[in-house]
Amino acid sequence: MNIENSNSEVKPVKITETILRDAHQSMLATRMTTEQMLPIVDKMDKVGYHAVECWGGATFDACLRFLKEDPWDRLRKLRDGFKNTKLQMLFRGQNILGYRPYADDVVEYFVQKSIANGIDIIRIFDCFNDLRNLQTAVTATNKENGHAQVALSYTLGESYTLDYWTNMAKRVEDMGANSLCIKDMAGLLVPYEAEQLVHALKETVDIPIELHTHYTSGVASMTLLKAVESGCDIIDTAMSPLALGTSQPATEVMVETFKGTEFDTGLDQKLLAQIADYFRPIREEAIESKLLNPKVLGANIKTLLYQVPGGMLSNLLSQLKEQGAEDKYEEVLAEVPRVRKDLGEPPLVTPSSQIVGTQSVFNVLMGERYKVATKETKDVLMGKYGKTVKPFNPQVVDKVLSAEEKAQTITCRPADLIEPELHKIESEMKQWKQQDEDVLSYALFPQVATEFFKYRQAQQTGIDDNVADTKNGAYPV
Ligand code: CO
Repeated sequence: MNIENSNSEVKPVKITETILRDAHQSMLATRMTTEQMLPIVDKMDKVGYHAVECWGGATFDACLRFLKEDPWDRLRKLRDGFKNTKLQMLFRGQNILGYRPYADDVVEYFVQKSIANGIDIIRIFDCFNDLRNLQTAVTATNKENGHAQVALSYTLGESYTLDYWTNMAKRVEDMGANSLCIKDMAGLLVPYEAEQLVHALKETVDIPIELHTHYTSGVASMTLLKAVESGCDIIDTAMSPLALGTSQPATEVMVETFKGTEFDTGLDQKLLAQIADYFRPIREEAIESKLLNPKVLGANIKTLLYQVPGGMLSNLLSQLKEQGAEDKYEEVLAEVPRVRKDLGEPPLVTPSSQIVGTQSVFNVLMGERYKVATKETKDVLMGKYGKTVKPFNPQVVDKVLSAEEKAQTITCRPADLIEPELHKIESEMKQWKQQDEDVLSYALFPQVATEFFKYRQAQQTGIDDNVADTKNGAYPV
């Protein structure tokens, strides 16, 4: 970058604001309600963000399960409020917003309805970076005239060389993606690596590059700085009350960092300050109610040592607590990279983070590795989640899979073997259907959605409406 030419080479960096999705998913257990979001939407719409990420990821599940809200209704309300700003969602490839691969007809219908209800940009990723698991969603997004962004899950390991990333980026561009995101969910991308990576990507592809990282290990704002200096087009940040810690770098801080340079975002700090004032009490309340644990607010260097996403660390700890085995925490953390290697060294992100984490807990608590294998571990080894960058450990395959299971191992795109399921799902749930989108809520989370539908019906008929505890999802069914 040539600072002397800054006048002739103005290249403002674009900002994607995450406070309505990733930031509260990372810091408030995804519990921000639509009611908490709506009063500030008008101001946020005036900022001039490149996009606001506000839907998908865990928010869909959390709406139905804990908040007793219809996620589709949330999306429509946000769309009504954001008249000038693009809305972005996070989409787990063939797993949509769930934890298993779905048939193509469900994926296509979900994309169609997401866009019809107001989404502009769909960020699509796969936990193995198996691009076959992204193609249906990308093609469907193109067809609906949405913006298909493919996110590569960033991780470390001997297979993940610069060549790996540039080769993947080329394939992402070729498959019809409109932009590429590097999704560093664990905060592993350090500043000078980011510089190299972004340079290499910019030399390889023409589509815009976006960087998504987390503050967990404490380096994220420096990483964004080096990435922008290297040509990164868009960065993900969160308004300061829900920034840092396990979330993203702070929007205001990054805006100030680039002020007066060729990368100047042009965003108005006064307006941002008003928005921050709105969210600050939400942070304070969350600390008081213990929803936000101040422990997650510092730099966690274990992230760099164990390469485990922040959310996974807290999940492991709570699994061990349940078993009364908190003293095994360090042992389990050391087991995680070994299990990851046995399973073909995938990135650790939903659902592979849960699969590797749970198997690591079993391996330690049983006192013998793979004495018990979870169904998900077996499914991974049978190819049902797709292809990993490295082969599986053959000794582990021998120990875990029966001869019959080995014979059922697949190498094709997993969804090729899943029959269309939309019609069957619709007939299963038709007594609850009040809008087309209900079929999709049920497809992803049959039990949780049914409980929500029952709750909704009770609300509408006025029966027991004082039972509703919308904050804690404690409605007894
Ligand atoms: Co994230």
